[in-house]
Amino acid sequence: MPKTILITGASTGIGAATARHLAAGNEIIVHYNSSQAAAEAVAAAVADAGGTAHVVQGDLCAEDGCRKVAEFAADTCGKLDVLVNNAGGLIRRQNARDFELQLIHDIFALNTFSTMMMSSFCIPLLEKGENPCIVNLTSIAVRHGAPTATIYGAAKGALDVFTRGLAKELAPKIRVNAVAPGVIVTPFHDGVTPPERMEQFRAAAPLGRNGESEEIATAIAFLIDNLFTTGETLDINGGLFMR
Ligand SMILES: NC(=O)c1ccc[n+]([C@@H]2O[C@H](COP(=O)([O-])OP(=O)(O)OC[C@H]3O[C@@H](n4cnc5c(N)ncnc54)[C@H](OP(=O)(O)O)[C@@H]3O)[C@@H](O)[C@H]2O)c1
Repeated sequence: MPKTILITGASTGIGAATARHLAAGNEIIVHYNSSQAAAEAVAAAVADAGGTAHVVQGDLCAEDGCRKVAEFAADTCGKLDVLVNNAGGLIRRQNARDFELQLIHDIFALNTFSTMMMSSFCIPLLEKGENPCIVNLTSIAVRHGAPTATIYGAAKGALDVFTRGLAKELAPKIRVNAVAPGVIVTPFHDGVTPPERMEQFRAAAPLGRNGESEEIATAIAFLIDNLFTTGETLDINGGLFMR
């Protein structure tokens, strides 16, 4: 049965890999904010793989942007089987002695408020779906803290709790899970994680390397397919964090 899947931030990195991974036989809404050409290339790859692709732009830091993307999904597909709340980012590192309230707001808006509002706007569409689910993207920063990325870690930590609460609230109809990636090689790190720091992460990981986007895409696919999983966060990090 083909699935209708909205992936936020699907222009690059993990979102793009997830769109490609899920493409065959499915209808994928490829959302982007500023990377239009990259989003169109992802949509072309979805079509090449035997899927149907739609492309929609929206700044998810704004409530209007979230509403616009959800309305596009409603107008174009009329329902959703899967919402992947993937859009997010670190924006910039900051020492705790130098916090600026605007940066705290911006990081929470991009990672946390966007996921909350997209989930809320898409619930009516998911209620019309088949075995519907939401997958949120949190971070290893939630598990072990990340110096100079403490605001980002807190924003993702809020999503960790949100995932469990929403899972209970929307059960049994809609399942809600999360993936907490470790260090994954994507544009996320451009300009915010120096090469030496990436090398330190690689050396610290028991598996001896940083991850690839596809390795998060397969975890997202598992959470979509496994109908007995809700309120769970999958840690995919090469062993950098173990519980
Ligand atoms: N890479 C890692 O090591 C890592 C680790 C833990 C968690 N994560 C999480 O995994 C998710 C995907 O990250 P990634 O590594 O794939 O990073 P990425 O390649 O930088 O992708 C981020 C995506 O978010 C979108 N985005 C940025 N600002 C936006 C805005 N204002 N409104 C809507 N969309 C916006 C971008 O769209 P445009 O380019 O079109 O603007 C892009 O598609 C994020 O939630 C991130 O926090 C990543």
